[in-house]
Amino acid sequence: MKKVYVALSADLIHPGHLNIINKAKKHGEVIIGLLTDKAIASYKRLPFLSYEQRKIIVENIKGVSRVIPQETLDYIPNLKKIKPDYVVHGDDWRTGVQRETRERVIKTLKEWDGRLIEPKYTPGISSTKLNIGLREIGTTPEIRLKRLRRLLESKELIRILEVHNGLTGLIVENTQIFKNNVLKEFDGMWLSSLTDSTAKGKPDIGCVDLTSRMNTLNDILEVTTKPIIYDGDSGGLPEHFVFMVRSLEREGISAVIIEDKVGLKKNSLFGTEVEQTQDSIENFCRKINQGKKAQVTDDFTIIARIESLILKAGLEDALKRAKAYIAAGADGIMIHSKEKTPDEILEFCEEYKKFNNRVPLVVVPSTYNQISETELIKAGIRIVIYANQLLRSAYPAMVKTAKTILENERALECEEMCMSIKEILTLIPGGK
Ligand code: SPV
Ligand code: MG
Repeated sequence: MKKVYVALSADLIHPGHLNIINKAKKHGEVIIGLLTDKAIASYKRLPFLSYEQRKIIVENIKGVSRVIPQETLDYIPNLKKIKPDYVVHGDDWRTGVQRETRERVIKTLKEWDGRLIEPKYTPGISSTKLNIGLREIGTTPEIRLKRLRRLLESKELIRILEVHNGLTGLIVENTQIFKNNVLKEFDGMWLSSLTDSTAKGKPDIGCVDLTSRMNTLNDILEVTTKPIIYDGDSGGLPEHFVFMVRSLEREGISAVIIEDKVGLKKNSLFGTEVEQTQDSIENFCRKINQGKKAQVTDDFTIIARIESLILKAGLEDALKRAKAYIAAGADGIMIHSKEKTPDEILEFCEEYKKFNNRVPLVVVPSTYNQISETELIKAGIRIVIYANQLLRSAYPAMVKTAKTILENERALECEEMCMSIKEILTLIPGGK
């Protein structure tokens, strides 16, 4: 029997897929190359369903004889392994981003006289539209919570942006660009203590309590589906931290980051300009440990944030703490710096690579912002948090508008700085 190869993501199965499979089975035994989460995440968002879930669905479609993983977007490794007589793909890939992939498939098939069959694309069904529909339905706390760990398994670098209300949540949820044939977007959100408190007109000293922070979270949770990392400051006393863990986990927050400081909280970017005291390794390990014991699922993550470089305690101290925090159960390490260059962070990363027992590394390049994502990946960093840029860009724009109105004693002159009334009315769907 002839072999027919069909590559699918199969996150949202629709009649278009069944049409392809039906056509394929007329030519022989149908082998599905099911794209892994990693392969899909390399060019667009993580699929809703895991590889295992998608595999079960596809295996049970009539006419499918075998499902194998396709580990990259590139068909060629699987084609060379299987040497199919036919590859079947909808004719929609003749133009657009997949054009080159198509060319290479044709060329490779020629090596053993294989052929490409291209049924007409089923119009009227768009995965993109289905995706938008799914987003509108929303998510559940469990699915959202697990998403960060799934991202860690599927992506080299997870890109997180700060949020402080529902609207910024929507920006992180929906902002996308197409660059080099890859859909780029943010993978999740950072509920920054700095921007959450600043947006409430309060200093970043821990005076915005957990209840108030949960209110902000709730506004964001209502309108988004992406995973959230919560800035837990120091987490408070270990006895209090356990309640923070439970509250966050219950809401579907994926991770909390706590910093190894005690006393009145001060923002790290003040560095040694203000009095800040680092916690003892022993105390902080106890806090991590109690937090880990308090969580209900295996999916929630506690990330330990090391302030040694901020407080000029040195690289050795930072490394010693990283080892201890990992041993205490930390699921991730955030190493922070307020230097203008990434040198000390990169030094830390080099030494960190030598650890036997490693967990994902997180950085917040606010001051050493020249470092690129490619460089972060090279250094072994797994999560980058852009911690405050949305609020920092919005505030000056708003002050400028306010001053323009004062200056001109009317609103005409600031109109060009504003989006149109029509746009703001329809920015959030469902208002009409
Ligand atoms: C925050 O965003 O609140 C942070 C990061 O904790 S930093 O402001 O750099 O301390
Ligand atoms: Mg903070």
